[in-house]
Amino acid sequence: MSGDINRVVRLKSRPVGMVKREDFDIVDEPVAEPGDGEFRVKVDYVSLDPAMRGWMSAGKSYVPPVGIGETMRSFSVGLVEASNHPGFKVGDAVAGLLGVQTHAISNGERCYKVDPAQAPLERWIGGLGMPGQTAYFGLLEVGEPKEGETVVVSAASGAVGSLVGQIARIKGCRAVGIAGGPEKCRYVVEELGFDACIDYKAGNLADDLKAACPDGIDVYFENVGGEILDAVLARMNLFGRIAVCGLISAYNSTEPVPGPYNFRSVLVNRLRVRGFIVFDFADRIPEAVRHLGEWAAAGKLKMREDVRDGGVDAFPDVLNLLYTGGNLGKLVLKL
Ligand SMILES: NC(=O)c1ccc[n+]([C@@H]2O[C@H](COP(=O)([O-])OP(=O)(O)OC[C@H]3O[C@@H](n4cnc5c(N)ncnc54)[C@H](OP(=O)(O)O)[C@@H]3O)[C@@H](O)[C@H]2O)c1
Repeated sequence: MSGDINRVVRLKSRPVGMVKREDFDIVDEPVAEPGDGEFRVKVDYVSLDPAMRGWMSAGKSYVPPVGIGETMRSFSVGLVEASNHPGFKVGDAVAGLLGVQTHAISNGERCYKVDPAQAPLERWIGGLGMPGQTAYFGLLEVGEPKEGETVVVSAASGAVGSLVGQIARIKGCRAVGIAGGPEKCRYVVEELGFDACIDYKAGNLADDLKAACPDGIDVYFENVGGEILDAVLARMNLFGRIAVCGLISAYNSTEPVPGPYNFRSVLVNRLRVRGFIVFDFADRIPEAVRHLGEWAAAGKLKMREDVRDGGVDAFPDVLNLLYTGGNLGKLVLKL
């Protein structure tokens, strides 16, 4: 045995509303040795994803919930430190579903090797990882934007949204973001190059959307839901597409969520509304990573990580930043 300690976050109870420290057991355990066909990763960065809140809840979803007492599920990245697996050797950098813990055992399922020479480790769970792949497939395969069209994306300064607008620009579209507060909107326009960004907290969403999208909206990349979805539905063009990626405004709701009130727009405008989960495109990950990497290398796609310290103990507090808009860019916990 190595004698090292694995500090791990285990789900203790199903949260109600925002997560609380008491919903988790954060404990020290002896580091496990990898069995046959397994390897052990010393985790350096954990991805904080809005979906984590859903993974903690019972009920039907696209993946089973994390069980009570189980390690909290997460995308993480780190270096292999012990291996009995033919495909992964000591020193390899690996990203995948490794959980919120300092030392993870894996059999290689849902894990892949990444290249730290191409990009820093944390980017492989950000712009080159699951959020980047989500933006790529969600916009291009589900939204199907055409040159000259107007693409609107909510949570525009975040991990997924920031890339969606930039890819829309690469494809010759007008990119309009929706984000919370003037500083985020400034970042989205001045640093990411969107054509416009609307501050939904300013209180004039409908009018601001009309001004920013004089030709209406052809593609809406939905990350938020609620009032923002309703405002966008009212401006959608004939045969527009809505890629439903996330509905973060409802993830901590304890009451049923109403609406959308403007659903009639789907009928009269013959909209195509399609939800998707990035896992639907799992067999095409290399294609997405190649394009994202090429655009980033060419300076066309900016990726930003918002890295927080505090180790696994900070997990509940840092996770909640996603639901209060406390992050700018891809939220990552450094271990
Ligand atoms: N379908 C998939 O496979 C898939 C994969 C990855 C992510 N997603 C979804 O994509 C969305 C974005 O995820 P991300 O990882 O890129 O997170 P993110 O955008 O980096 O962070 C979440 C952001 O959501 C905004 N937000 C939170 N609560 C809100 C509310 N009540 N109203 C309006 N905006 C709110 C905040 O930005 P503001 O400060 O601008 O409000 C916050 O910074 C989420 O809905 C997530 O579930 C889906």
